[in-house]
Amino acid sequence: MLSPKSAETVRATLPAVSGALGEITALFYRKLFAAHPELLRDLFNRGNQANGTQRQALAGSIAGFAGHLLDHPDSRPDALLARIAHKHASLGVRADQYPIVREHLFAAIAEVLGDAVTDDVVRAWDEVYWLMAQALIAVERRLMAEAGVRDGVVWRPYRVAGRIEETDEVATFLLRPADGGPVPAFRPGQYVSVQVQLPDGARQIRQYSLSGEPDGGLQISVKRVTGRAGAPDDGPAGEVSGYLHAQVHGGEILQVSPPFGDVVLPEEGDGPLLFASAGIGCTPMVGMLTHLAATGSRRRIITAHADHSPATHPFRTDLHRLTGKLAHATAELWYEEGAPDDNEGAGQGAGGSAVDTVTVRRGLMDLTQLALPAGTTAYLCGPVPFMKAVRTQLLESGVPSGAIHYEVFGPGPVL
Ligand SMILES: Cc1cc2nc3c(=O)[nH]c(=O)nc-3n(C[C@H](O)[C@H](O)[C@H](O)COP(=O)(O)OP(=O)(O)OC[C@H]3O[C@@H](n4cnc5c(N)ncnc54)[C@H](O)[C@@H]3O)c2cc1C
Ligand code: HEM
Repeated sequence: MLSPKSAETVRATLPAVSGALGEITALFYRKLFAAHPELLRDLFNRGNQANGTQRQALAGSIAGFAGHLLDHPDSRPDALLARIAHKHASLGVRADQYPIVREHLFAAIAEVLGDAVTDDVVRAWDEVYWLMAQALIAVERRLMAEAGVRDGVVWRPYRVAGRIEETDEVATFLLRPADGGPVPAFRPGQYVSVQVQLPDGARQIRQYSLSGEPDGGLQISVKRVTGRAGAPDDGPAGEVSGYLHAQVHGGEILQVSPPFGDVVLPEEGDGPLLFASAGIGCTPMVGMLTHLAATGSRRRIITAHADHSPATHPFRTDLHRLTGKLAHATAELWYEEGAPDDNEGAGQGAGGSAVDTVTVRRGLMDLTQLALPAGTTAYLCGPVPFMKAVRTQLLESGVPSGAIHYEVFGPGPVL
């Protein structure tokens, strides 16, 4: 809990600090990486630095944490902390790195806000920083211990045992522990961090959701970020996805973290489930669906997926197979372009046509067209505008916000 004096100072300065957080975090990262270039080379995602998304996430999390301390002094924003702690744990962030972040963050605050930063202001925000840091460190320690991480080293060598082309742009990589040890336990929905050494020597890390439960290993499915001009992700080609697609064909060794991630299927429960994804956002959903099918689930399950066309839809045939295997599952597909192929046998009319358990529609996903069973728990994954739209549709359909979970394939949380 914040001391009453600090709470008063934080309350008085929160609007000014929040308003300047974008500038503060940009300067913070410049200072941090000037003093520790190895952190940008080997720990932080330099794509997210270049496109600015990590700055926003850091700023949003600090403002969110401070606001929570003021409004709910006796509790912690558990969901916010869990998301960050899982990500930190998967990257091997260490407790002794928190003073380094603190030093450069506060130097940036002093430089941006100038004379407004009195000793009292520093003391109050220092309290906020350390309350947040200590809460994160505690969760990170627990998560790493549960994952069997020793001495803070999360990396373990995995051999790429196979590669499957799912679509022109998505490939699945089958990973087996190269040390011959056991495959780590994981919860459906979780991800691993993958570290690769790029041609310029940088060791860059990215997260990939577990997209299945192969025998004797883990499986991830990676979309190549092409960097096409005019495409939604209109920047340069993706570094790590590009590397994996171009250089990894089978037999190589990749450094992989244990599975982490807080957007998971609860172990208990028999209520209805809705998985709603777009594009490569289907990977955690396919992971969860695979698990439900493997365990003979009798839950009512709706898998909704939106894609550009049937040809760009990863795991399209697996989705049919898994849906057919489950006792009470249906799939609802929305394609912007391209006729659903003959196997699907679905009509192309605006209303869509149901064949067996799979219904194919044209256009953008609209969940208000579905009759959602009462008590549905929803999992969302896809581009942020997609998740915002789908979340609104679910709220309109009466699904409470607490029953809507979402995974963000970038620095978040955003909704
Ligand atoms: C929890 C989680 C799970 C994920 N699961 C999956 C998954 O299952 N499958 C999957 O394919 N991905 C997944 N991702 C995304 C993945 O981690 C990577 O972000 C993705 O592969 C892109 O990485 P990259 O190195 O190829 O691209 P990067 O090089 O990191 O580029 C990322 C974006 O930034 C843009 N960018 C880079 N530099 C600049 C610049 N100078 N100016 C402007 N824009 C720039 C690029 O154009 C691109 O759009 C997941 C992410 C998270 C956080
Ligand atoms: C109180 C202090 C800290 C806060 C509030 C904080 C906050 C965050 C947030 C909000 C994210 C994005 C999480 C997401 O993906 O949703 C993040 C990611 C990350 N953090 Fe921290 N963090 C702190 C300390 C640290 C420290 C000490 C390090 C290590 C030097 C660190 C390294 C990272 C890295 C490498 C990422 C991933 C970056 C990326 O993928 O672009 N953080 N942190």
